Amino acid sequence: MNPAISATAVQRCIEPECGATFDLNEQIYTCRVCSGLLDIVQQPKNGRDVQHLREIWRARLSSQNERDMSGVWRFRELLPFSYSVAVVTLGEGNTPLYDAPRSAHYCGLGALKLKHQGLNPTGSFKDTGMTTAITQARILGAKTVVCASTGNTAASLAAYAARANLQCAILVPHGQVSHTKLAQSLDYGAKVLEVEGNFDDAMRLIRELSEDKYIYLVNSINPFRIEGQKTVAFEFLEQCRVPHHIVVPGGNLGNSTALGKGFSDLFNLGLIDRMPRLSAVQAEGAAPFAHLFAERRPSLQELPRDGLITVRNPQTLASAIKIGTPVSWRKSMRAVVDTDGWVLSVSEQEIADAKAIIGRDGIGCEPASATTVAGIKKLVSDGRIAADESVVAVLTGHFLKDTDYAINYHQETLDGTDDSMNRTELERRIKSSCSNRPLRIECTRTAILKHLEGR
Ligand code: F0G
Repeated sequence: MNPAISATAVQRCIEPECGATFDLNEQIYTCRVCSGLLDIVQQPKNGRDVQHLREIWRARLSSQNERDMSGVWRFRELLPFSYSVAVVTLGEGNTPLYDAPRSAHYCGLGALKLKHQGLNPTGSFKDTGMTTAITQARILGAKTVVCASTGNTAASLAAYAARANLQCAILVPHGQVSHTKLAQSLDYGAKVLEVEGNFDDAMRLIRELSEDKYIYLVNSINPFRIEGQKTVAFEFLEQCRVPHHIVVPGGNLGNSTALGKGFSDLFNLGLIDRMPRLSAVQAEGAAPFAHLFAERRPSLQELPRDGLITVRNPQTLASAIKIGTPVSWRKSMRAVVDTDGWVLSVSEQEIADAKAIIGRDGIGCEPASATTVAGIKKLVSDGRIAADESVVAVLTGHFLKDTDYAINYHQETLDGTDDSMNRTELERRIKSSCSNRPLRIECTRTAILKHLEGR
């Protein structure tokens, strides 16, 4: 353990009435006493060491050391690993924070920033948690690492498992994962198992499988994933301190959990004096968490643990967040409630429009990420975000993760998924308000000039 900061670190059940603790090297994913989710908690030694941290972290940006160059391991004082551990890294993190004036205008804000976690090595925010989870897998001596995935976790796991020379199996819902994500997992050498069912079915299966101790589960239920992903909060500290609002997409709800954990670590250490409001946005057809918040702000104690938040047949074109039974909802709810944030849902049309606007800012993202800008627009128009507040949307996946969606949008052939009202294909079609069709032209200079003049 890092002697400067951490006296002790343990895995601890998040349920207030339980709070059981377990050694870091126990291969468990939920509490052995009450099946609650687990946090990793570290006790800081004293405040003086902590104040030096920001200088140490910044100095590492100019180092050529592999761990220093990672935007996760650069913050190793706040990670539950010994300094001497051999890390599995692809140089993740250190992602840019962009100004997005067109998106700001679209949302009714004076300014909006986009934190692009899609610019990680495999193109999604999953890499920041995978580096720590796979490092832990090696510490535990795991032979095989597994996950259920809508595509990005799979691609990330496949890459990091290849780096660590571990056998890797990914379970994905057959026919529901974008080709580019699938292509990544194949190329990185994972065993790709396509299940007849949806993501929630795959998740259920993988949890059964992980009872075998040679198999290590690296979905975000694994608290070592969250420890890596929380470092995005430390990057916020350097790039813009504490914005008023941070908005993320909500799927299995690991990302919102991790941001909450990162900021609360900073707060408990005295490195920040207030928390940002964390909000999560889901797609309307896959919004069990938003349903829970629709009426009022619930608290953990008043809600039964199981079965409460389920959408049986989740539907959205944002396939990354096509999830009906999010595993980490109790942790995520704690983050949203403790920071006075919101959970809401947006329609397929709103997602498509927001994505095209983000593109016009020259940034781009995959569909799930665009729920953030669509959600912010709603929060501004409801008066829950003021036009002059500082707001950051976290973009979770790279534009190239789902090019079929973009091509269909611009060719005006993108079909919404909800056929429950027996609507025809044409009636379900998403309106391409910002469409930008390719033009087929004669191969002459005159033809080109004619089209340019026409603009
Ligand atoms: N955005 C993207 C691009 C994602 O891939 C995911 C989740 C989310 C948002 C939602 O994040 O689950 O932490 O709330 N993708 C998972 C996967 C489920 O398997 O790749 P979350």
